Amino acid sequence: MGAQARVFVTRRLPGDALERLLAEHDVEVWPERVPPPRAELLARAPQLEGLLSLLTDPVDAGLMDAAPNLRAISNYAVGVDNVDVDAATARSIPVGNTPGVLTESTADIALALMLGIARRLAEGEAFVRAGQWATWEPGLMLGRDLHGATVGIVGYGRIGQAVGRRLEGFGCELLTTSRSGGASLDELLERSDFVTLHCPLTPATRGLIGDEALARMKPTAYLVNTARGPVVDTDALARALHAGEIAGAALDVTDPEPLPGDHPLLDAPNLLVVPHVGSATHATRGRMADIAVDNLLAGLAGKPMAHSVNEDLLTPQAP
Ligand code: DGY
Repeated sequence: MGAQARVFVTRRLPGDALERLLAEHDVEVWPERVPPPRAELLARAPQLEGLLSLLTDPVDAGLMDAAPNLRAISNYAVGVDNVDVDAATARSIPVGNTPGVLTESTADIALALMLGIARRLAEGEAFVRAGQWATWEPGLMLGRDLHGATVGIVGYGRIGQAVGRRLEGFGCELLTTSRSGGASLDELLERSDFVTLHCPLTPATRGLIGDEALARMKPTAYLVNTARGPVVDTDALARALHAGEIAGAALDVTDPEPLPGDHPLLDAPNLLVVPHVGSATHATRGRMADIAVDNLLAGLAGKPMAHSVNEDLLTPQAP
């Protein structure tokens, strides 16, 4: 076994993957439910050799500057928009992520959100619990069908394709758009009954769905976001929902995140929101922990990570 490295893990993780890390290295696990404040990260930075971060932890150049011994960053997520990957690459630090294992769970929740908003499930549940269910009524809580609908998938990578496979079973017509082609975004927005977002958050996708995009959508269409909150302009979405410009929105991710209970978006009609739980199944979160730990162990041992977003950009270090 090599020398023990100083490692900080920014939250407890489901499953027993962390045991493997604890067996090999000098590990501190942040014990709180909420992320470590910046000051706590900076206080540990000078000694830090390995960091296992979550999507809620900004891992930026300032933190890396304060951590001159940092050799490996492993992000417990497929998305790495919380990590300054360029800054890590410039410092020859590999950045790991957890692709693949959360694809199917995230695709499942995208379908759940489509059905939930279009068939008014949250509304129906609240109605029953409020004792308002008087009788079977022909016009009660009419929604819209997912089966046979035209669905626009923005971002046709692993998760977008997994959503597409499910929708084929619903007899949907699919329109897709991604960096490598497909329909134009304008056509997709104009024709779709559901628009579902599966692109990463990048400078090009930040605010992609704003006033103009929402105005292109049909008034009977739904927007679903299981990607990253800032892909949608929150104020524009609230305006569009209040104005009835679209039929509804179902969000697993929001901007800001977490969304405070008194946020104005929550006053908008026809909105279903869940707290970024796309990958939240026992099996998936456990597999993500396995990969994140394996990535960190590999990085600390100077070996290639099984899943890294910058390994091919790193210049080999002198032995
Ligand atoms: C990810 O891994 O990027 C997801 O958003 C976590 O659910």
